[in-house]
Amino acid sequence: MSLKTIIVTGGAGFIGSNFIRNTLFKELDWRIINLDSVTYAGNPANLADLEKQMPERYRFVHGNICDGAFLDKLFADEPINGVIHFAAESHVDRSILGPMAFVETNVMGTCRLLEVCERYWQEKGRPDDFRFLHVSTDEVYGSLGDEGHFKETTPYDPSSPYSASKAGSDHLVRAWHRTYGLPTIITNCSNNYGPYQFPEKLIPLMILNLLESKLLPVYGDGKNVRDWLYVIDHCEALLTVFAKGRPGETYNIGGGAERQNIEVVHILCDLLDERLARVGEESSRNLVQFVTDRPGHDRRYAIDATKIKRELGWGPRFEFESALTETVDWYLGNREWVDYVRSGEYRNWIEKNYNGR
Ligand code: NAD
Ligand code: DAU
Repeated sequence: MSLKTIIVTGGAGFIGSNFIRNTLFKELDWRIINLDSVTYAGNPANLADLEKQMPERYRFVHGNICDGAFLDKLFADEPINGVIHFAAESHVDRSILGPMAFVETNVMGTCRLLEVCERYWQEKGRPDDFRFLHVSTDEVYGSLGDEGHFKETTPYDPSSPYSASKAGSDHLVRAWHRTYGLPTIITNCSNNYGPYQFPEKLIPLMILNLLESKLLPVYGDGKNVRDWLYVIDHCEALLTVFAKGRPGETYNIGGGAERQNIEVVHILCDLLDERLARVGEESSRNLVQFVTDRPGHDRRYAIDATKIKRELGWGPRFEFESALTETVDWYLGNREWVDYVRSGEYRNWIEKNYNGR
């Protein structure tokens, strides 16, 4: 069987590593090159078993998307059929404390990658079936009030340095299609949860604090709303868009599972109480602590995912409460992974972010 070679950037992170694992078992004619610079959020060990199991179909390459010479060499050495671009600085709170890394990777890095891809695509005679799939976020649309949903046509209105840098990268990707004809597609997705998520994001942070009976820091009044999507649903949506999406288009991806943050935290408390037999006074809900709000905190996100359903036939398969239960059990069953990723750098971050909140 002849193999298609696809570069996945940021494949050592949360969504990228789930994507690679899921895809290699589904798309048997895919060979994936995982290009990742391994920041604090990247962990190639997430996929180390695949390197041994299927060396002909999975290759890890340590490199930075901002490094044009490195990208040129990689594209010269390999026959590339497409790029799925996950690599990014992805955490809003970190972007508030240190925005430059977000501009460098999300804006400059994406631009560098587009340049190299476009040159390669031109040299190969502009193949119609080449794809550059840019994995972006619903945060580019800003904040909703109590009503309404983000559509693909909603004007961009980002609030944080993270979402502004992702908005910048989306604009560049669209420009490379309109100006140079590169077959790019953009997806804007809501909040993901599931295995291998770095424990600085809401759900894994709360699970680990619960396990250790630490306080649960809920920003503001806890009534901010996010739309939650199980990571495997997101991976399957991306595969669908890569196979069937139209170049130049944007597709919104969402779970149809809007919850207030405090609701999510309460569900997690109850799941952990069941597993750790905590009752009465010991109930984990007592650990909730409302802390100073995130500056520029978007109030509500909600996705209108009718376009991807209507045009490509994708919809989420997993139900929020049951996939969240599986996620909790994954973290409980993978303490070694947790200990490994909670390096010194992680501890410094927690101190810096929550100190004084
Ligand atoms: P993550 O932070 O877990 O992983 C990011 C990965 O990118 C890491 O492995 C990191 O090492 C790598 N990386 C960072 N800078 C790099 C660089 N300069 N060169 C090469 N690699 C680099 O992020 P995630 O949560 O898996 O998100 C992946 C993508 O999906 C991001 O683009 C993010 O904006 C988008 N997204 C995330 C969510 C979510 O809920 N997590 C939702 C919608 C969209
Ligand atoms: O909407 C998609 C986005 O979802 C992605 O683009 C981002 O990469 C991803 O990090 C996520 O952004 P959020 O800011 O929504 O995720 P986070 O897990 O940081 O926070 C979720 C909500 O929980 C948010 O309203 C802030 C709140 N929160 C978060 C943390 C870490 C708390 O109340 N306490 C916390 O300690």
